[in-house]
Formats: sequence, C-alpha cells, structure tokens
Amino acid sequence: MTIRDVGVVGCGIMGAGIAQVCAAHGYRVRVSEEDPERLARGIATIRRRLAREVERGRLSRERHDRTLSRLDGAATLDGFARSDLVIEAVVEDLPLKKRLFEQLGAVCKPEAILASNTSSLSLSEMAASSGRPERAIGIHFFNPPTVLPLVEVISSESTSTETIDEIMAFCDSIDRLTVRVKDSPGFIVNRLLVPFIFDAIRMVESGIATAADVDQGCKVGLNHALGPLATADLIGLDTMIHISDAMFEEYGEARFKAPSMLRRLVSLGHLGRKSGRGFFEYD
Ligand SMILES: NC(=O)c1ccc[n+]([C@@H]2O[C@H](COP(=O)([O-])OP(=O)(O)OC[C@H]3O[C@@H](n4cnc5c(N)ncnc54)[C@H](O)[C@@H]3O)[C@@H](O)[C@H]2O)c1
Repeated sequence: MTIRDVGVVGCGIMGAGIAQVCAAHGYRVRVSEEDPERLARGIATIRRRLAREVERGRLSRERHDRTLSRLDGAATLDGFARSDLVIEAVVEDLPLKKRLFEQLGAVCKPEAILASNTSSLSLSEMAASSGRPERAIGIHFFNPPTVLPLVEVISSESTSTETIDEIMAFCDSIDRLTVRVKDSPGFIVNRLLVPFIFDAIRMVESGIATAADVDQGCKVGLNHALGPLATADLIGLDTMIHISDAMFEEYGEARFKAPSMLRRLVSLGHLGRKSGRGFFEYD
C-alpha cells in the first residue's frame, strides 16, 4: 500500500508536531481533536512554527504555503475513512486509547495501518481492540517531533512483517531515524529516562540540590542538551505520571514509582511548559 493520507488523532504537544512533520514531507494530513479550542490552538502552533522557519530563512514561502495547504483539522474521526495511516496521539490513558482503536477499526478502510504514539502503554491491547492487530503498530516520536528525528517502531506479537516494512519506509520518507523494539512499557528510551528523571526529582525533594543545579550538573557534566527536570517540564508532568504509572504497574520496581513531589506539582496544576510552570517557570 502507498501511504498518501495520514490521520492524526489529538492535536496537543505531540499530535500537532507529528501532523506538521507529515505535512511538511508531502502527506495529506487530517488532525482531529475532540476539543475545538485545543484544535485551534494546535493548528495555530503549527502556523507559528512554520512562519518562524520562513522568517529565519530556513523554509521558502512556497513550501510553507504547500505544507499548510496539505493540513486539515477535524472534530470527528469520520474523515479518517480515507486515511492510509492513522497515528493516535491522545492522552496516555489505556481505556481511552483502546476505545479509540476500536472506533478507528470501524471507521478506517481495512488495509489502513493504525499506529499509536504511546510512550508506555500496551500496544497489544490496543491492537486487539482494533479488530486488525496485524495492521496495528507503535510509532513513538520524541518531543518535539519537529526537532528530534528518533522514532521507536514498536511491534506486538501480531504486527505483520508487511506493516513493519511499510512503517519503516514511511519513517524514512519523513526523515526519521528508527530503532525497533518489542511491545514493553517505556520501550527503550523512556525505560532508561524515567528512573533518571525520578532520581533527579528525589534529589530536589530531599533538599540535596536545587532543580537548577541538578540540571546544570547534567548539562555541563554530561553534555546533555537539557537537564532531567527541564526534560520533565517539556514532556509534561501529567504525562510523566501517566507513563510511569504504566511502567510501575508492569515492572513493579520502585525506580518507576512517581515521586510525591511530582504528584504534588500536578495536583497544583503545574504541568511543566504547557501550563507555564513545573520545576521551572516559563513565559
Ligand atoms: N509529551 C511528550 O514528551 C511525549 C513524547 C512522546 C510520546 N508522547 C505520547 O503522546 C501522546 C500524547 O501526549 P501529548 O504530550 O501530546 O499530550 P497532550 O495532553 O499535549 O495532548 C493530548 C491531546 O489529545 C486530545 N484528545 C484526548 N482525547 C481525544 C479524542 N478522543 N480524540 C481526539 N483528541 C483527543 C486532548 O484534547 C489533547 O489535546 C501520549 O500517549 C504520550 O504518552 C508524549
């Protein structure tokens, strides 16, 4: 199957970025959001990012216009009947994602591939809900998808070789670098990253060092582009909890258990960059 039409479900941090990357690489993209305000905000973010690229001389006006002309927003899943590939990027909640896979399985044409951008949840359970487990796969982009080229390609026991090959070719076509991993909570990168971030939080929680110093230590001492606490703010502190809850449930290891400071910040509405405040403050 030739992939031409891509559907993206969810136009938050990841969905908006994934939709932009796909449209910029020539795909017709329809992105859906159940919340009209979030849809408008997500599309506005894409427009702003593309306009900035033009201002900086990194993107021609013509390519800017063509990218936007390929992008379309919707409030329902109905338009996905035409999609060759649908990537879901809704909140990290398994019952929600399973429901969505079931709906997509009913709406999409039989040969369409259904993909999840989940960071930690069971692809196999979503695949089973879709009614077409051989066409279900994980395509885990990194944040921000417009900048970071890595994609973890996740297969379940049921994912067909043909589906994997088509998705590897798709990732090539949007200039992504891929790693392959079997369905397991956190896959490769988050399985390593989450305990690292949690240790950083526990250090701040116990008063050993400030958030700024923990991050400075990692940036300067380890040559990391971002410290672990700024990374948590970028991911979204609510998303960090969703991801780690799934990992803790599966592995049962204390290193995957969300520190109380993280839960407190989320209860206070401090979700990181997206709310303007997390471990650090943002404009
Ligand atoms: N934030 C990260 O750094 C990151 C990185 C890689 C993967 N992920 C994964 O990507 C997914 C999305 O994360 P995010 O950070 O973009 O979250 P987000 O909260 O920014 O966006 C999620 C969006 O999904 C929308 N949504 C919820 N239910 C919906 C439905 N039924 N139909 C359409 N839209 C719906 C919400 O309104 C929201 O705008 C999660 O599975 C997360 O684990 C996140």
